Amino acid sequence: MKWNPNKYAEFADYRGRPYEDLLGQLGGIIPKQIVDLGCGPGDKTSLLAERWPQAQVTGLDSSPEMIAQANGAVQQPNLGFELLDARHWHPRPEIDLLFSNAMLQWLPEHRELLKSWLGDLKAGAYVAIQMPGNFGAASHAVMRQVADSQKWAGRLGGVLRHEDVVGEPQEYQRLLLDAGFQANVWETTYHQVMVGESPILDWVRGTALLPIKATLPEDEYLDFEADYSAAVAEHYPSFTAPDGAKLTNFPFRRIFMVARKQG
Ligand SMILES: C[S@@+](CC[C@H](N)C(=O)[O-])C[C@H]1O[C@@H](n2cnc3c(N)ncnc32)[C@H](O)[C@@H]1O
Repeated sequence: MKWNPNKYAEFADYRGRPYEDLLGQLGGIIPKQIVDLGCGPGDKTSLLAERWPQAQVTGLDSSPEMIAQANGAVQQPNLGFELLDARHWHPRPEIDLLFSNAMLQWLPEHRELLKSWLGDLKAGAYVAIQMPGNFGAASHAVMRQVADSQKWAGRLGGVLRHEDVVGEPQEYQRLLLDAGFQANVWETTYHQVMVGESPILDWVRGTALLPIKATLPEDEYLDFEADYSAAVAEHYPSFTAPDGAKLTNFPFRRIFMVARKQG
């Protein structure tokens, strides 16, 4: 039997799968106006437009690069994209599905925003939200430890998000219930198989390290990456597959909620 190391990751759409798992919990509903808040490059938003061809779907994102990419790459008659900061957004009364995948964790004030959006939505409207719930995991805790070390604290104080940037599932359940929603809240830990020499570093380069990259000059950033990579590797031991590939288990917890406004 011949093994191909690239095959390990072939079906592992680890960033995309939670979007589809969230969408999978919306069976039976027929929304007409859908907003995808923090839509990113729009490829996933197109799944909403395909799933509900009778609905108008709007992807909103505060990144001009993301919106440009979405407008360039994704074209469906019932789908549009707009540049917008979620912190200044209010749901229009006709919205009947507010979808948001992997965005609210970027906003420390998301609990207050969520409360206000829940209050604005009409009776019968749905919210469907996913956020990573892994800020206490070693991948993030070690990053904060390195940033707080004597070497880096002077330049990186306050740059990283704290462990409690995303709450526990029961907090969001309470928030939804208090706002008059029927709430379905759950968490899933995805046991991601990572391939390569520095898989945790490779993963966080696209997410958690971005605020550090935005703060430090390039040479210092690379120095920080090296410190982080050495420290985090101890927490994620690799193992060797039958074909010699170096693999690492990277557990990734995510928090989900689907809720419907009563009344
Ligand atoms: C991890 S990506 C998720 C993209 C997409 N939802 C997906 O599941 O593929 C987070 C997105 O949130 C957007 N974002 C961050 N802060 C935002 C804000 N204040 N308002 C709107 N979008 C924001 C980023 O620009 C980025 O596109």
